Amino acid sequence: MKNIRNFCIIAHIDHGKSTLADRLLEYTKTVEGKDLQAQVLDDMDLERERGITIKSHAIQMKYNYKGEEYILNLIDTPGHVDFSYEVSRSIAACEGALLIIDAAQGIQAQTISNLYMAIENDLEIIPVMNKIDLPSAMPDEVEDQIVELLGCPREDIIRASGKTGEGVFEILDAIIEKVPAPKGDPEAPLQCLIFDSVFNSFRGIIAYFKVVNGVIRKGDHVKFIATGKEYDADEVGILKLDMSPRSEIRTGDVGYIISGIKTSREVRVGDTITHVARPAKEAIAGFEEVKPMVFAGVYPIDSEDFENLRASLEKLQLNDASLTFQPESSAALGFGFRCGFLGLLHMEIVQERLDREFNMDVITTVPNVSYKVYDKKGNCMEVHNPSGLPEPTLIDHIDEPYIRASVITNTTFIGPIMTLCLGKRGILLKQEYISGDRVEIHYDMPLGEIVIDFYDKLKSISKGYASFDYHIHDFRPSKLVKLDILLNGEPVDALSTLTHVDNSVTFGRRMCEKLKELIPRQQFDIAIQAAIGAKIIARETIKAVRKDVTAKCYGGDISRKRKLLEKQKEGKKRMKQIGTVEVPQKAFLAVLKLD
Ligand code: GTP
Repeated sequence: MKNIRNFCIIAHIDHGKSTLADRLLEYTKTVEGKDLQAQVLDDMDLERERGITIKSHAIQMKYNYKGEEYILNLIDTPGHVDFSYEVSRSIAACEGALLIIDAAQGIQAQTISNLYMAIENDLEIIPVMNKIDLPSAMPDEVEDQIVELLGCPREDIIRASGKTGEGVFEILDAIIEKVPAPKGDPEAPLQCLIFDSVFNSFRGIIAYFKVVNGVIRKGDHVKFIATGKEYDADEVGILKLDMSPRSEIRTGDVGYIISGIKTSREVRVGDTITHVARPAKEAIAGFEEVKPMVFAGVYPIDSEDFENLRASLEKLQLNDASLTFQPESSAALGFGFRCGFLGLLHMEIVQERLDREFNMDVITTVPNVSYKVYDKKGNCMEVHNPSGLPEPTLIDHIDEPYIRASVITNTTFIGPIMTLCLGKRGILLKQEYISGDRVEIHYDMPLGEIVIDFYDKLKSISKGYASFDYHIHDFRPSKLVKLDILLNGEPVDALSTLTHVDNSVTFGRRMCEKLKELIPRQQFDIAIQAAIGAKIIARETIKAVRKDVTAKCYGGDISRKRKLLEKQKEGKKRMKQIGTVEVPQKAFLAVLKLD
């Protein structure tokens, strides 16, 4: 145990975590240089493409320090706010953290939020200033920021580059010297903290854990405390580049278990594994059920694909327990599913995987948050879909989720950012100077305002020099009304949104204008109306057009004509027939594109 070091790397997105992890693997000879595929740890295609670590992973390295061999378990953490619960669990499995800060960018919002999580878990923090090779690096300035943030001596900050390899051995030495060895009692009843799981189509669910107390052996009969389910440990092992089976995993070490688990719902990140015969009295503290907060309808373009879509969502859920779905139907879109996501990025990833891995053509509706709707008798119901809202006369009040957000930026952008947040119904809590001209602004804001075009606006008004982080704080009563959109007099339920009463008229007008842009002209006039209850608050008309694209092919050869028709058909993909009107997918997301 004394020669084990469990650590993670925490950083703001793009500060170079994966690149540095690759260097650690290379310098400890865990992978040979020639095999080193860029970013070994990001093994999902999608992850590599987007350069985002979506799921946490773990890998074991060996390192010789002053003649002694040490085992270093690197537990990779996802960097995005949507996955912050997974970050918190993987952090809890470690004793130390490398805090990576980009030498050109300095401290950003997630640097701080991840750091707080690490401090809460009593981790030893090793500050690393990365990308020191960049010509735009501002090492002295960023060092000031780090000293101010951590209160550490300047000399403790390691200057490194994942690109050139500078500082990598220094980091490895610091991990051995500073990160404490894991504690725990090998004789105590078994407690393993699950910090991640993956789905493997041959082996089922593989759970990753850290042994906090006791020893787990192959063949043991074990129980997962939160789910109450029992399994036989068919295989246990350690994680190198591949899985490496072992007969036992001892206190302090990190490993995996394969036990015939079929779905990710049976394995909850944060759950505790113990022995059935000699169970631990309690679970490791901190388990929390993650609840999706952002919802959207997902509908097959072709209604015949409904069952296929269900099968695809079920498969996706096998390795993504935080994805939820329930069948729903929409007058406009037919049968589909209401899916729950942790956040917007999570939603995008699911959408993309449906397309890429399952070849599903789907229409996604505007995301909304989860509302608590109270009737006059004080009963509360959770509503995940604006069109599921009860009659206004039956509603006493509606509560919506609020986030506590922090924005870090340069003083130059304070004005525009405050205007943006105010427009999003933000409540300014405080403003703090980090160092020099960098400032952290704290806000309470409705989550519903963030899921709609907040990131993009923040990015553009700050020219990219603002970072943002948040967590769900509470639910608060809000004056929300349901805004409906009608196409040629027919309400399109999939376009309904909940909006604050003060913004509703402007919002309705902008929706109509945007839809006019997005819906192609057809062979008849189309009226677009926005309504609150029975009251129409805005209207636009799309004028008719008549066109016959094959006309110009008369006399031409038949294959050319066929090609044109094929092309038209392609264009119809991602179109949905609403009454007589054909509506493209982008129109269903119109609200995200309002200027
Ligand atoms: P997420 O997983 O998305 O949070 O990103 P990350 O923190 O893992 O960052 P990643 O390693 O993907 O690096 C982000 C970008 O910075 C990539 O384009 C890297 O090539 C580049 N980069 C990483 N480390 C260095 C470095 O030391 N120097 C320079 N010049 N570029 C680097």
